[in-house]
Amino acid sequence: MTEREQTSADLTFTVKATDGKARRGALSMPRGTIRTPAYMPVGTAGTVKAMYMDQVRDLGADVILGNTYHLMLRPGAERVSKLGGLHEFARWPHPILTDSGGFQVMSLSQLRKLSETGVTFQSHIDGSKYELTPERSIEIQALLDSDIQMQLDECIALPAPVSEIERAMELSLRWAERCKSAFLTQSDHNARAMFGIVQGGDNEALRVKSANALKDMDLKGYSIGGLAVGEPQEVMLAMLDVTCPELPEEKPRYLMGVGTPDDLLKSIARGVDMFDCVMPTRAGRHGTAFTRFGKINLRNARHAEDHRPLDEKSDCPAARDYSRAYLHHLVRSNEALGGMLLTWNNLSYYQDLMQGARDAIEAAAYADYQAACSAAWERGDI
Ligand code: GUN
Repeated sequence: MTEREQTSADLTFTVKATDGKARRGALSMPRGTIRTPAYMPVGTAGTVKAMYMDQVRDLGADVILGNTYHLMLRPGAERVSKLGGLHEFARWPHPILTDSGGFQVMSLSQLRKLSETGVTFQSHIDGSKYELTPERSIEIQALLDSDIQMQLDECIALPAPVSEIERAMELSLRWAERCKSAFLTQSDHNARAMFGIVQGGDNEALRVKSANALKDMDLKGYSIGGLAVGEPQEVMLAMLDVTCPELPEEKPRYLMGVGTPDDLLKSIARGVDMFDCVMPTRAGRHGTAFTRFGKINLRNARHAEDHRPLDEKSDCPAARDYSRAYLHHLVRSNEALGGMLLTWNNLSYYQDLMQGARDAIEAAAYADYQAACSAAWERGDI
């Protein structure tokens, strides 16, 4: 057990228990408490695709993610603000974390141009021109009424030359300072958080430098970015091994855009508290189910006459009540319900995996839990 705690007026992070490096914590803010380790469903455009918000909540999500990039383009941050903010607009009254936009600009937009000031780009929707600076990114996140805001950063794909990784990391540090100043002008910043983002690619020394520089800025939480961008899992884990120990113990750590169930459990073992990833929702819409027995591709003909549900022991109706044969039929027929049921199943599985991790850390049995999960994935039942 530990007692480490960070408190500002209305925001608290408490590490309630540890098991090895794994942490069981709680990030509390006016809109609710996020139990960690946490998986955050991705609600890019103000919707967790193919899900009702009530379903997302009922599965155990304490927080969802929104994207500056998508929402600034459509329907526009000022418009969301006029309509009462993202919580009201999307009917999710609980905490929302927003990404800052830089990562999506780099992956989705055309004709982007990066400078010290920020990034200019053309919308992937209609080609219109935009500028995103650190200050504007934070302003947009405030207009959305985001509870946990991200600094603007530059994330580069790997492999990349060290000089390029270093340049992007240093730029991200300067942008973190500017974002912090912008964040502190928000009248209710005590009730919100802005996280810095550790960059540094696959270079250990640059990761350590980035983490320490951000730590000196005394931010409310720390994201680890620039991973799962083309490198093998061992490299990602090696970067967590060097980064996590540099970060303050009393602040939350968020690994961005990761990952598979196996990535999540291995990252938790290295001290990560929060995750987001499109994998369960995107894979669901493409016919793949995540289960205790591993991944199942419902498109495959071998499911055509399989009466069994995905997981009869699950509490989720999508996993428990529908036959694999029916799901196969829906996926093959491109029926909307196929994507809806598989997304529901997948988010249920990810939330259950995190609940299992939280329970195991509290019971000081995390290594056993991890081993049991991997053994079941490998054994399969399919
Ligand atoms: N999502 C996944 N990786 C990253 C990253 O490095 N930066 C940001 N802002 N978002 C991400």
